[in-house]
Amino acid sequence: MKSEQELLSRTHTCGELRGPDVDKKVILTGWVQGRRDLGGAVFIDLRDRHGLTQVVFRSDLDAALLALASELRPEYCVGIAGEVRSRGDNVNARMPTGEIEVFATDLCVFSRAETPPFEIEDDIDTREELRLRHRYLDLRRPALQRNLVTRAQTTAAVRGFLDSKGYLEMETPVLIRNTPGGARNYLVPSRLTPGDVYALAESPQLFKQLFMVAGFDRYYQIVRCFRDEDLRGDRQPEFTQIDIEASFIDEEDIYWLVEGLMQAVFSRVMGQKLPTPFPRLTYQQAMDTYGCDKPDLRFGLPLQDITDLCPGCGFRIFEGAAEAGNMVKALRLPGRAGEMSRKVLDGLTALVKPVGAKGVAYVKINEGLIWQGSIAKAFTEEAKRVVSTRVGAEVGDVLLFVADTPSVTNTALSTLRLAMGRRFELIDDDAWKPVWITEFPLLEKSEETGQWVACHHPFTMPLAEDTDLIEGERRGEARARAYDMVLNGVEVAGGSIRIHKAELQSKVFRALGIQEEEAQAKFSFLLDAFKYGPPPHGGVAFGLDRLVMLLCGADSLRDVIAFPKTTSASCLLTGAPSAVESEKLEELGLAKKAEE
Ligand code: AMO
Repeated sequence: MKSEQELLSRTHTCGELRGPDVDKKVILTGWVQGRRDLGGAVFIDLRDRHGLTQVVFRSDLDAALLALASELRPEYCVGIAGEVRSRGDNVNARMPTGEIEVFATDLCVFSRAETPPFEIEDDIDTREELRLRHRYLDLRRPALQRNLVTRAQTTAAVRGFLDSKGYLEMETPVLIRNTPGGARNYLVPSRLTPGDVYALAESPQLFKQLFMVAGFDRYYQIVRCFRDEDLRGDRQPEFTQIDIEASFIDEEDIYWLVEGLMQAVFSRVMGQKLPTPFPRLTYQQAMDTYGCDKPDLRFGLPLQDITDLCPGCGFRIFEGAAEAGNMVKALRLPGRAGEMSRKVLDGLTALVKPVGAKGVAYVKINEGLIWQGSIAKAFTEEAKRVVSTRVGAEVGDVLLFVADTPSVTNTALSTLRLAMGRRFELIDDDAWKPVWITEFPLLEKSEETGQWVACHHPFTMPLAEDTDLIEGERRGEARARAYDMVLNGVEVAGGSIRIHKAELQSKVFRALGIQEEEAQAKFSFLLDAFKYGPPPHGGVAFGLDRLVMLLCGADSLRDVIAFPKTTSASCLLTGAPSAVESEKLEELGLAKKAEE
């Protein structure tokens, strides 16, 4: 019998052996996926992250070994030695190793396992909560193992590509000064200066700009970022960026670099050639046509603005919306009249209520382009004609309308567009549709405070021709040299060209209502650095988790992060966040010392 030590030296993985390996003497290690006892023989499927191999223990070969094998249970960690045999006519076509099996001559149980709380298999119907609590078992499942391998291949491709383009991987601090604005920061109390806090970096933004001042003209980092945000499937409190910054460049250089990077990733991870250049849409075009700044271009269904056709159209709600300066838009569903009952159409309202819209108006287009539907009779014939022409209505179409503020109308119709794309199976799951969204607004009014805030961040360069707008009445119209890369409707990357001239930076601060002293107080280190010859520069950051989520066809970031947090930002595995002893809080100045 071979010793435990000898069985550590595996000769193959469990996914490796094939027909030509027959007769080889092998050592395999892994976990027992399952055991079948057939009287004189015991079969186990041995699993490691590479696959499964069938191992056979037979009484006619070694009765003592068979007795030992009969004790094996799922998830025991074992090593076996044996000889590869052909399965002859009994090939298991479902297993890549299905042509062979290994007749065991040695077995060592490295460690036993309790019965796991769920089976280690894909497509198991287990509550995610239970899986996250025992994440180390969940991670034994092939699907999650594949996802994490894809993640590792992605970062390897990124490093290889950026290194080949002369980019230096450089680190920046995680414990940083709290600079308000942007996402809400996690704060870390300082023990040595009680009452003071560090922030956990939401991104390396300011430090990467300091690298540019320092002359490291090509920087990148695969870096953890922390944001105390409301969470969803595509947001985690700690996530990873592929962060990039470069000097002496403009937008075209960034687009070229990012497209090359995406091609390198697709070629390595998916074995596919991703066509470049990626199409581009300005923010305005994206909003006009898709109602959102991260359109899914795998299907059509463009929106049409009909606000200008509404005055005098006869339908009070649309007339009122147009008079009030609001927006009326239509979504045409070609040839779907027969598939949408009144109940289905009335049900659409439930989809748009959560985004603030009051309802969805609809008509069907009958023979002779006659409008059918409860709102049809309110419209004048002329209005029906011009609206039909505008949207290109044909017999058998359904038209959906929303009238509200521009923001609500766009959000509601982009929600409907996606829902209809899914409902009518217009989305090709195998398609990859990247798009650049460019010329984002520089400033936007915060819904919470009514104050002007930077759409991207306060260091983003305005478009030269819009610089004069930024302190005036029309500052909301000023456009920024900011861009996002959207893939299949997911914002995968975002960045901008930065301001490198003090006068322009002061102007933007003033537009944001940040006075000179306040700017100094908040960003003095950056503003000071910019007194010493900052180069023209810009950059971009990818959400690595989101990119990998798309590459894996996963629905949630949790499927591509080894140890993720839940939507309430807790880690079910370790129980973070957790209470700490009052002495620890006292030490940090966060709690009063208990009275002696
Ligand atoms: P931004 O805030 O757009 O830009 O972030 C860049 C990309 O990071 C991803 N991302 C997230 N992924 C998961 N969970 C989150 N909570 C989360 N938040 C953002 C998105 C996003 O496109 N410093 C700038 C970049 C720059 O200007 O260079 C920045 O952080 O995919």
